[in-house]
Amino acid sequence: MPTITYILKDGSHKAVAAPNGKSLMEVAIANNIRGIDAECGGCCSCATCHVYVDEEWSGRLPDADQMEDELLDGVSAQRRPESRLSCQITVSDALDGLVVRVPTTQG
Ligand code: FES
Repeated sequence: MPTITYILKDGSHKAVAAPNGKSLMEVAIANNIRGIDAECGGCCSCATCHVYVDEEWSGRLPDADQMEDELLDGVSAQRRPESRLSCQITVSDALDGLVVRVPTTQG
C-alpha cells in the first residue's frame, strides 16, 4: 500500500498508509490530518482540501483539470505552482512516497 506523507502546519510530518483508489483528501480525513476540512465532501466545490505538493513530485502528477484549476484561484492560502486540491488526486502505487504540505492558514 502506498505511503503518503502530510506535512502539518506546525512542521510535523505524518506518514500514513493510503489505499489505492482513495483520494488524498479521503486519506487525510481518515487519518485526522489537521487542516484538510473537505467541506464539500470531495465534489470539487469548496477548496478546503488545498495542499502544496512537494516540488519533487509536482511534475509527476496529472495536471489539474479546468474545474480544479478555477477553484484553486479561490483558495484561502496563497496559490502556488504546486497547489492542488487533495480531493482530485487519486492514490496509486505510482504515488508511493508522495509528500504534500498543508497550508499554514488551514486548520
Ligand atoms: Fe471540497 Fe476538495 S473537498 S474541493
